[in-house]
Amino acid sequence: MLGATGSIGTSTLDVIARHPERYRVHALTAHRSREPLLALCHRHRPAVAVLEREADAAWLRERLGEADLPIEVRSGPEALVAVAEAAEAEVVMSAIVGAAGLLPTLAAVRAGKRVLLANKEALVMSGALFMEAVSRHGATLLPIDSEHNAIYQCLPVEHRGGLARHGVTQLLLTASGGPFRGWSAEALAGVTPSQACAHPNWSMGQKISVDSATLMNKGLELIEACWLFDARPDQVEVVVHPQSVIHSMAAYSDGSVIAQLGNPDMRTPIAYGLAWPERIEAGVQALDLFQVARLDFEPPDEVAFPCLGLAREAMAAGGTAPAVLNAANEVAVAAFLAGRLPFTGIAELVARVRDAEPVAPADELEAILEADARARRTAEACLVRR
Ligand SMILES: NC(=O)c1ccc[n+]([C@@H]2O[C@H](COP(=O)([O-])OP(=O)(O)OC[C@H]3O[C@@H](n4cnc5c(N)ncnc54)[C@H](OP(=O)(O)O)[C@@H]3O)[C@@H](O)[C@H]2O)c1
Repeated sequence: MLGATGSIGTSTLDVIARHPERYRVHALTAHRSREPLLALCHRHRPAVAVLEREADAAWLRERLGEADLPIEVRSGPEALVAVAEAAEAEVVMSAIVGAAGLLPTLAAVRAGKRVLLANKEALVMSGALFMEAVSRHGATLLPIDSEHNAIYQCLPVEHRGGLARHGVTQLLLTASGGPFRGWSAEALAGVTPSQACAHPNWSMGQKISVDSATLMNKGLELIEACWLFDARPDQVEVVVHPQSVIHSMAAYSDGSVIAQLGNPDMRTPIAYGLAWPERIEAGVQALDLFQVARLDFEPPDEVAFPCLGLAREAMAAGGTAPAVLNAANEVAVAAFLAGRLPFTGIAELVARVRDAEPVAPADELEAILEADARARRTAEACLVRR
């Protein structure tokens, strides 16, 4: 469980706790949330727990010792990689937020695990290299993002080798539109972090909530869909669907459109990934179509929300462009949450970093990490100059 203390982590542990006969937790990781991790250790009794800083790890070791819980506590990025590739772990939930998830997720892929991918940023940064590692090391990659999980369910079981081969003409990626759907660019200028984090349908971590509000989340998902399903950007259409009941769709050459529906609860895709190809109970309420009553669809407003177009352009530019986009966005979102950047400044900053950074080939991990680091430095410099 990489990112055990987060929103996806908590939902995953909820599903796991419903099936003690099937699942046992080997390792739980967090960044700095040592008290929440201590509580999870009491509840789930992993063999290993990981925190970023040694001082936090020492604190946790002491508390676990007092409670007589024999749990090994480790610290640092190497410890994340070590638990992700540990022989004891058959399934790795990749639920760290942002670029910090890349190395442990790749380690799990290279160790041939079943990888449940929530950490979309890892795939956005390293697309070709990541997918090549999946096939070379025989990993099983199951998307947890609800949209990609839906598409996965709507495609034939064996869908590698290009969409056209399977009669698929288009992937329809649904988007709720976020809390500011219908707002003008002018109205968006003054929105606050708490408004941006108040998603109408989903309860999520802060970073993805802001990404949903700017539509960068949909842009990252567009890139993610291209890599996961061998699709060109023009084969992925974003459809705003405010009810968040249809999680995405696949359109076929005979005119069929297959959709996956459900209540907006991440425990559904998580349970799907855990049990695939079986199905297990996830604690999710059955969908009541009479209560839903209507399903609406509209095109995204790419003028008020330019991040979607920026992501599409980065995918088309290829190489390190998506890693640069992701890094600039991570810096911009953190600055917005810290009150250093207005909401509309997020897209502006991402565009400025894109203009300043050359696109390089992304076939080596070092090149991707270097592009990520450079883009962060450029973004910070732009913030200082504002
Ligand atoms: N939430 C959703 O519904 C949802 C849906 C689809 C996809 N996703 C994707 O899933 C991922 C996780 O999202 P989330 O909403 O669960 O995020 P979150 O609630 O913010 O949780 C993030 C987790 O990652 C850990 N973490 C953060 N920075 C880290 C670092 N530098 N090194 C190691 N661990 C770190 C956090 O630990 P601390 O608690 O110690 O900070 C926490 O356990 C994101 O990539 C997101 O896009 C989320």
